[in-house]
Amino acid sequence: MTTPNPTDAGSQPASGLVDRFGRRHTDLRVSVTDRCNLRCTYCMPCSGVAFRPHEEILTYEEIARFVTVAAELGIRCVRLTGGEPLVRRGVVDLVKMLGCIPGIDEVTMTTNAVLLTPFAGPLFAAGLRRINVSLDTVDRECYRRLTQRDELPSALAGIEAARRAGFQRIKLNALAIRGFTEDQVLPLARFARSEGLELRFIEYMPTVANCGGSDYSEEVGLCGDSRGVPGTPADEPNKPPAEAREPGLAPASEGHSQPIGPVPVGSTAENWSPRQVLAGDEILRILAAEYGPATAIAADRAGAPATEYRFDDGGRVGIIRSVTAPFCGACTRLRLTADGRLRNCLFDQATLDVRGILRRDQDDAPLREILLRSVGHKQPFRGSCHGGLVATDRPMHQIGG
Ligand code: 5AD
Ligand code: SF4
Repeated sequence: MTTPNPTDAGSQPASGLVDRFGRRHTDLRVSVTDRCNLRCTYCMPCSGVAFRPHEEILTYEEIARFVTVAAELGIRCVRLTGGEPLVRRGVVDLVKMLGCIPGIDEVTMTTNAVLLTPFAGPLFAAGLRRINVSLDTVDRECYRRLTQRDELPSALAGIEAARRAGFQRIKLNALAIRGFTEDQVLPLARFARSEGLELRFIEYMPTVANCGGSDYSEEVGLCGDSRGVPGTPADEPNKPPAEAREPGLAPASEGHSQPIGPVPVGSTAENWSPRQVLAGDEILRILAAEYGPATAIAADRAGAPATEYRFDDGGRVGIIRSVTAPFCGACTRLRLTADGRLRNCLFDQATLDVRGILRRDQDDAPLREILLRSVGHKQPFRGSCHGGLVATDRPMHQIGG
């Protein structure tokens, strides 16, 4: 094993979108808008949200041109995200356009489902087959407090419409936030089981919207990737400090963050701390009280970020340990933001300007080059060479979840 050499950054992979650590990039997340019809307090600051002006957002033609080049280099799956992708007019046309691009096997979408009812049928007809719905609670009052909108009935209706439209695999993604999610785990699990939906919990990550850019590496412990990035020492899988697993919020005297009450309403720069993550193991413990112990099972596909678990009664749950055991070693993703920046990681600090090329050059060669350059400088963990846990430089609605 060799330790990755940071001075290699910028070198190009030998073929396709393979980085210095052998990770082949086949998935592209495309954020089609930074706007959203919800105001999740962990995502958008309560002080107000700044959206990009219209002219800074890529047109569908620009997105399709970029995806065509990316597909030539090995991208196979495109996931549309936001903000909320369904708030952008004509998104069904984009699904059709992308599905026709040679090399693209699948177009998928992450949505909050609030607007899904009228779109489910047209999206299915346009070729979309997989939908991930972001749903952190099935309690109307908790939903209203968390999203600052009373839209749970619309979201549930949207999920039902998607089932009726023919979507076979609908995944629910729930954030795992300490002090909030503990009480949501079982109701979400019961709902997912009764409706035949797949449920996954995602450990709550630090972003500039919720933690002001602090470095939490020490508190969480430097991460070793449980799946191992080639050429990197095989550290212990990362665990939060023991006290982080105790129920309740961090005492103010510990100086990690201000206590925020049971729901992080008005999440602001100071509000995130590792103590706000509900670790995946804790979620399994909560589920075990009702369904018994869970057994880890093989993932459906290589590189899937979630660890899948099965309970004795056949029920399943997925856990994405984005904080306590990140899946960087198996990452196959690139991201294009709505304003046309190419990111090789949620935590990429050196994003590249695709929009400038799309608007300046007729020739596609610079697009190929920028894709190879982005993959060439991809870091082993969380946008860095050491695995520290530093916040993303943009809020999630401006990156795409
Ligand atoms: N950590 C992890 N996931 C997040 N999302 C938004 N903010 C965070 C965060 N801090 C997720 C949403 C949704 C997707 C768009 O991004 O829950 O599933
Ligand atoms: Fe919208 Fe998703 Fe952000 Fe919530 S987390 S405000 S649904 S973009």
